[in-house]
Amino acid sequence: MPTASFVHRPRRLRRTAAIRRLVRETRLAPEDLVLPLFIVPGEGIRKPVSSMPGVAQLSIDEALPVAREAQQLGLGGIILFGIPKIKDSHGSDAVDPEGIVQQAIRAIKEDLPELWVIADTCLCEYTDHAHCGVLQGHEVDNDATLEILGRAAVSYAEAGVDMVAPSGMMDGMVGAIRAALDRAGHTQIPILSYAVKYASAYYGPFREAAENTPTFGDRRSYQMDPSNRREALREAALDVEQGADWLMVKPGLAYMDILRELRDQFQLPLAVYNVSGEYAMVKAAAAQGWIDEPRVVLETLTGFKRAGADMILTYHALDAARWLGGA
Ligand code: PBG
Ligand code: ZN
Repeated sequence: MPTASFVHRPRRLRRTAAIRRLVRETRLAPEDLVLPLFIVPGEGIRKPVSSMPGVAQLSIDEALPVAREAQQLGLGGIILFGIPKIKDSHGSDAVDPEGIVQQAIRAIKEDLPELWVIADTCLCEYTDHAHCGVLQGHEVDNDATLEILGRAAVSYAEAGVDMVAPSGMMDGMVGAIRAALDRAGHTQIPILSYAVKYASAYYGPFREAAENTPTFGDRRSYQMDPSNRREALREAALDVEQGADWLMVKPGLAYMDILRELRDQFQLPLAVYNVSGEYAMVKAAAAQGWIDEPRVVLETLTGFKRAGADMILTYHALDAARWLGGA
């Protein structure tokens, strides 16, 4: 048997499952995952989102068992999106103490005080035009929106939420929310900022789930141009300055470089949103039998972690936690 004359053989560390496990650099765990839930008014409602197989809009009573399962499986938490009965020009339900999300927060925290509950904080599900802020003519009025976001965050805090997550890409939103929370005595509620959010076609299915397709125009005057990297660093730096506790990059797959860049340049914990279109593509291919769904999902989620994410918002969270647990 001829022996090659080199000593470096990386394959030595890949030969068996035992050694592969010992040299593994990234470990995905259920507590890294956060499950998004879409809450609608009513009772006994479980309305499937056609473009997101396995995802449904849920009334609060239907959301409770799902939240319980999230806790049992050891997920990091849940993030709530509310779809109100009535939408108006100013998104009033978002700031109403009896609003859909406030009710959901109270019900879930009462039942599951230990579960980490995040409230997405934006106006697009609550406005009748479905833009992420109030309008001045056909433009989103940045500063008028800030005041409403502050009130929304305070009312979520008063309902018992653990963390607020502003997602509307308004300038100054983190600072405005921090000030509003502090003024109301909620100095301990952290802000997870969707600091770097791109104007992405990957949000397509979410618009059905959250019923937030803009009635005119698009979100490109506030969400970022997918071509830009330096601008992502600037957005993140501004949010750090304004007191963000946690940064997010969204979407995930097409922006792994941005995730890595933020991980290297900032010290805050980092989240990534594995968005609706990314989920829909996996589900569609899996339904055709073209990919091995559990393996593809766990590989993707591990990739996010390897790229620098501490927390992953994903519609696969329950399934992934089951697969990780070998269940
Ligand atoms: C809007 C918002 C969006 C998502 C969460 N909050 C995108 C949008 O409609 O612009 C997308 C999440 C997903 O696609 O899974 N504030
Ligand atoms: Zn929005």
